[in-house]
Amino acid sequence: MSALLEVRGLGKRYGGLVALDDVSFDVHAGQIVGVMGANGAGKTTLFSLIAGNSRPSAGRIAFDGQPIVGLRPDQICRRGVARTFQIVKPFPSLTVLENLRTAAMFGHADLRRRADADASSMQVLQEIGLASMADHPASSLTLSGQKRLEIARCVATGARLLLLDEVMAGLTPTEVGQMLDTLRHLHATRGLTLLVIEHVMRALMELCERIVVLHHGERIAEGSPAEIGANEKVLSVYFGAHA
Ligand SMILES: Nc1ncnc2c1ncn2[C@@H]1O[C@H](COP(=O)(O)OP(=O)(O)O)[C@@H](O)[C@H]1O
Ligand SMILES: [Mg+2]
Repeated sequence: MSALLEVRGLGKRYGGLVALDDVSFDVHAGQIVGVMGANGAGKTTLFSLIAGNSRPSAGRIAFDGQPIVGLRPDQICRRGVARTFQIVKPFPSLTVLENLRTAAMFGHADLRRRADADASSMQVLQEIGLASMADHPASSLTLSGQKRLEIARCVATGARLLLLDEVMAGLTPTEVGQMLDTLRHLHATRGLTLLVIEHVMRALMELCERIVVLHHGERIAEGSPAEIGANEKVLSVYFGAHA
C-alpha cells in the first residue's frame, strides 16, 4: 500500500543556506509520526513545503498518491492537508466559533451552508475542550487555548493529515499531558493522521509510533521511539559534549 504522504529527496535553500537537504520519509494513513530536531534543524521549513507555503528547491512530495508541489496552500488544504503555525495566527477579533466556521466552509470539508459549518465546528470545539469559549473572541484565549484553536481549525477543515508545529511549546507539564490526551483522542475517534513537530523529546516519545530526526536540514535518523532513544547519533546531537 502506498503511503498517505511521500517525501522524496526534499531540499530547500534560502540563498546560501541549506535549510533542508535530501530528506525522504513516508507517513502512512492513521500513523502518528514525530519530527524532532533542535532549533534551526529545518522542521518548520519541512511543513511549509508540504503545505505549499513555500516551494522546494529539489525533491518531490505526494499526498494520497498525487504530486502536490506547485499547488497553492488552499488547494493543498482542499485535498486534505492542514497545518498549524508555530506562531499562532487566529483572526483575533473573530470569535472562536467564527474562526472555525471559515475553516469548515473553505477547507476539504467544503460545508457551504453556514448552519452545517457551525454544527460541525461546534462538534470539533467540544472534542477539543473549547466549546465554552465558542462565542468569545479568539484574542481572549490563553496560550494553551490558542494552540487548541489552531488544532481545531485544522480539524474543522476536514483534513486527513494534520501538520502540528510545536503545539506543546510553552505549555505547563499539566497542559502538555492534556494536549497529548486530546491528540490521541482526535487520532482514535477521527482516524486522523498526524505529523507532529516538537523539540521536547519526551512528548514525542510518548505520542508517536515513529520519529524522524532532523539535524542541520538532514534526516539523521528514523525509527520507533525506542530506536531513536538508543540512537547514538541522535544522543550525541541532543546531549553531546560539543554544546
Ligand atoms: N524564509 C526564510 N528565509 C531565510 N532563511 C530561513 C527562512 N525560513 C527559515 N530559514 C532558515 O532555515 C533554517 C531552518 O529553519 P526552520 O525550518 O524554521 O527550523 P526549525 O523549525 O527546525 O527551528 C534556519 O537556519 C532558518 O534561519
Ligand atoms: Mg520551527
